[in-house]
Amino acid sequence: MNLKTHYLGLTLENPLIVGASPFCDNVAAARQLQDAGASAIVMRSLFEEQIDAEQKGLLQNTEGMADSNPEATSYFPSYNEYQLTPDHYLRQLAELKKALSIPVIASLNGCRPGGWTDYARRFEAAGANAVELNLYQLVTESNVAGDQVEAEMLETVANVVNCVKVPVAVKLSPFHTSPAHFAKALENVGAAGVVTFNRFYQPDFNIDDLEVHPHLRLSDSSELLLRLRWLAILSPQLRMSLAVSGGVHTTEDIVKALLAGAHGVQMVSVLLRHGPRIITTLLAGLNHWMEERGYESIEQLRGSMNLKRCPDPTAFERANYIRILQSWRV
Ligand SMILES: Cc1cc2nc3c(=O)[nH]c(=O)nc-3n(C[C@H](O)[C@H](O)[C@H](O)COP(=O)(O)O)c2cc1C
Repeated sequence: MNLKTHYLGLTLENPLIVGASPFCDNVAAARQLQDAGASAIVMRSLFEEQIDAEQKGLLQNTEGMADSNPEATSYFPSYNEYQLTPDHYLRQLAELKKALSIPVIASLNGCRPGGWTDYARRFEAAGANAVELNLYQLVTESNVAGDQVEAEMLETVANVVNCVKVPVAVKLSPFHTSPAHFAKALENVGAAGVVTFNRFYQPDFNIDDLEVHPHLRLSDSSELLLRLRWLAILSPQLRMSLAVSGGVHTTEDIVKALLAGAHGVQMVSVLLRHGPRIITTLLAGLNHWMEERGYESIEQLRGSMNLKRCPDPTAFERANYIRILQSWRV
């Protein structure tokens, strides 16, 4: 069985990738994931705010620069609360490269153009096989229009793409007005792939103490559906690679993501819940499913459920929406 896939121009032994998470903080844990069958691994992110803080700190030491917005910066973790400092991150990346034979993808997280994007160059110098740029942002200002936000994001992506030779993937939010248009624009500025999608950790609040409580809940398979829809829409329209992130927990989830058009399948929650060995089980399940149906390679099945043959996906989606609402009778 040929489980090989091409993702970001890299040839991977199979589509199962460890998504950005704390696993790579520990070389032994990363080794276990590789031994269990993971074909590539994404490091946790280094954040724009973290790099800015370091760069400002250096300036403050030399020029006594004042903090421009002390209230806003007080919301963020203090510099030493981040798990990896930028220097530590680069050393960890070099350690991972020494210990692993699978590709290591380093992650930057931010959306505004700025000096922080130069870190991609350092990732490349430390041996990263690719860079994943996570554009997480929630726009709250009523005077900021969507095209303005996207223009800044595209400039940021172009800055990263232009400072490295390794491929750059962009981890997207599903909340763009026209995700397909934005993905195409990313392709045009040189991105090698998109990761669908960022997971938004919705904060809750307590009605007794009136405090906001952000908390991390691991995903389940229901979150995959949003990704499947967009993989199926994007797959026929893009030349670049597609990865899924969010809600992949079972062999069935993996098969669905591939049928919808994914080249790579990223997983985090399922690995945090069950440990690295679940990868071996999932790979065996994928092999078995393909064998039973006579598939010989991932390429044979990839994208066969995408919307390529659908002449008008917008009408198709709307028709399904209407049909679902009309199906309920009381
Ligand atoms: C503990 C934890 C840490 C994470 N850290 C990062 C990160 O640093 N950068 C990033 O892009 N995504 C990060 N993620 C998000 C995951 O990469 C992934 O997109 C998300 O968990 C959805 O995939 P899943 O359903 O397989 O968990 C993190 C997720 C978890 C659970």
